[in-house]
Amino acid sequence: MKSMDTTKTLLIVKPDAVAGGLVGKIVAMAEERSFKILDVKMFSLSLSDASVFYNVHRDKPFFESLVKYMSSGPIAAFLLEKDDAVKAMRELVGLVDPAESAEGTIRKLYGVDIQHNAVHAPDSIENAQREIGLVFGRGALQRL
Ligand code: CMP
Repeated sequence: MKSMDTTKTLLIVKPDAVAGGLVGKIVAMAEERSFKILDVKMFSLSLSDASVFYNVHRDKPFFESLVKYMSSGPIAAFLLEKDDAVKAMRELVGLVDPAESAEGTIRKLYGVDIQHNAVHAPDSIENAQREIGLVFGRGALQRL
């Protein structure tokens, strides 16, 4: 079995947050918490790329809307490193619904609603490896 790397995670700034000029403010929050930026990529997801990325949600009622939203404009993806990175990033990001997220989290500060929640971060080490591979690996999702 391939060993799990617990030091890396992904942070994706969603299209409306990129359009709203929030990339710098959001990544600064990660850097302030000692995440090291290993790689960065700005690109647009096609509908089919977004469907692959969010495959785990394919049966959810919000899937079509989510895929359209995530392919509506450029996104900014950061490959970040820190001890226990997935957990530390989930704490910084907050809950899926900005309204329920704790003060000081990215989603509380910059999220608009449950769909337009500013950022995405993987919720498990397994998903982090899969998503890092999709965005930064060989055969990565299309880059503009
Ligand atoms: P994210 O962390 O990117 O993972 C899946 C995304 O689906 C989530 O953030 C939201 O953008 C969106 N999402 C989750 N739950 C809902 C919901 N109930 N209604 C609309 N969008 C949702």
